[in-house]
Amino acid sequence: MAAEVLEGKAIAEAIRAEAGAQARACKARGVTPGLAAVLVGDNPASTSYVSAKTKACAEAGIFSETLRFPAALSQTELLLKIGELNRDRRFHGILVQLPLPQQINEAAVTNAVAPEKDVDGLSLASMGRLLLGEPHFIPCTPHGILQLLLRTGHDPEGKHVVICGRSNLVGKPLAVLLMQKRKGANATVTVCHTATRDLASHTRQADILVVAAGHPNTVTREMVKPGAVVIDVGINRVEDATKKAGYRLVGDVDFEGVKAVAGAITPVPGGVGPLTVAMLLVNTVKAAELALARQG
Ligand code: GUN
Repeated sequence: MAAEVLEGKAIAEAIRAEAGAQARACKARGVTPGLAAVLVGDNPASTSYVSAKTKACAEAGIFSETLRFPAALSQTELLLKIGELNRDRRFHGILVQLPLPQQINEAAVTNAVAPEKDVDGLSLASMGRLLLGEPHFIPCTPHGILQLLLRTGHDPEGKHVVICGRSNLVGKPLAVLLMQKRKGANATVTVCHTATRDLASHTRQADILVVAAGHPNTVTREMVKPGAVVIDVGINRVEDATKKAGYRLVGDVDFEGVKAVAGAITPVPGGVGPLTVAMLLVNTVKAAELALARQG
């Protein structure tokens, strides 16, 4: 029997509606949640992600502004800008879209965001809190994956979750999140990466397989245990002359092949991507609520 397709888009819409209601509650208390999105250069994928994020903000009643800079921007100039945004009371959250041009050290920039405005959850403070099980802001993609699993009835508790990919954005924080001893997590976690030997021997053991490797066809049918839940985090552009844009989007998983053996699978697009956007709204509203609480 073909796998259930986990429609992230529909779940993301529900979460965005919840965030919208919370944003209205903040407004009623005199604070409109605000997000500053920082985009350096003109990477087409980054440009489209940032516009999806700011459009979703507008729909949820969150004020947002996109600050665009040329690809040649220096690290010093960017750090000065982040300092200004840290002091700007209109913004409760700051998002610096990654990747950044090579002259800029990403860690230096993500760490420059004030912890109370770190809605991407990528600073040392946010990652440290996550590791110790006391998060303020959970990175958006791992948080979205957890919500997708829980809201589709695939609680990871007691399951073996295998993650392909050890990035700071997805693999590492997701592994930490899933291994926490608390409801909605509590999984046994294996993290595979580019030095893993015999990847298939690991992926075949997964009850839940998360693929965030950044390459199409990283996981194919014979690498998946029958009935497993497969979460595809990849977004890859592949040339396709039949499309108006000249390309189409595919994930890291061979969708058609794996769909025939898996119990459930996320599509690309329309799977994890929309949840990343939704969780950014959740974190931005949370940052505004924390600001309100500090005001007393
Ligand atoms: N680039 C790809 N995904 C993300 C994300 O979740 N946050 C940021 N800041 N950049 C990204």
